Amino acid sequence: MKIAVLGTGMVGQAVAGRLAEVGHDVLVGTRDPEATLARDEPDAMGNPPFGAWREAHPAVALATLADAAAQAELIVNATNGAGSVAALEAAGEDNLAGKVLLDIANPLDFSQGMPPSLLVCNTDSLGEQIQHRFPQARVVKALNTLNASLMVDPAQLAGAGHTVFVSGDDADAKTTVTGVLESFGWSDVIDLGDIATARGSEMYVALWVRLWGALGTPMFSIKVVR
Ligand SMILES: NC(=O)c1ccc[n+]([C@@H]2O[C@H](COP(=O)([O-])OP(=O)(O)OC[C@H]3O[C@@H](n4cnc5c(N)ncnc54)[C@H](OP(=O)(O)O)[C@@H]3O)[C@@H](O)[C@H]2O)c1
Repeated sequence: MKIAVLGTGMVGQAVAGRLAEVGHDVLVGTRDPEATLARDEPDAMGNPPFGAWREAHPAVALATLADAAAQAELIVNATNGAGSVAALEAAGEDNLAGKVLLDIANPLDFSQGMPPSLLVCNTDSLGEQIQHRFPQARVVKALNTLNASLMVDPAQLAGAGHTVFVSGDDADAKTTVTGVLESFGWSDVIDLGDIATARGSEMYVALWVRLWGALGTPMFSIKVVR
């Protein structure tokens, strides 16, 4: 499948790399490809600049948000939550229409420092805001409850049998995303329901950041024991 991953941070890199590894034709979308490749500083988390990742993944193309989205059958939103609607507007409403949009973004607000709060919560979510702004896109929220590395390689937590969630209004789109998740190695995929259920997985991030502090590692996950 031709897939556009919008986002050049650690999530964009992890997801684009894994999608290419499992056989997809992958493009990464960024606001300004030249500026993105010219970055030579590590990001805020100390990850190497995008150009270094790109050199190790020559099969993954880099394009503007609109070019990447126009060519893709499936689109992944791996942009900063505060800028996701703007990034998707730059990708172009027409380029999203009718397509599955896997939304991984969390609406984190770092303006008051750590831990972040949420820009939207309780009675709304970023997933819903994206679905409402782009009504013809088939939005599925998933993978936002995990660190980037675990999203694409759950087997790193050996024997854990941990859980990932999907939320969305379109049943076929959730089936498509579940297929992608299975190709990454996920087997316990819980369909929470419509896109409003993204409130649950997004608000979990408040606990996630505190677990990160308490455990001193982002390599943990939810296992729903029934
Ligand atoms: N890091 C994790 O492990 C993790 C886990 C779960 C969920 N998430 C979520 O996944 C998303 C990506 O996270 P990340 O850590 O990879 O990187 P990030 O630093 O949160 O986002 C980087 C991406 O956001 C784009 N961006 C930033 N501000 C923008 C704006 N105002 N308008 C348009 N685009 C903007 C950047 O575009 P350019 O390429 O043009 O610079 C870049 O591609 C976030 O929503 C985050 O909350 C992250």
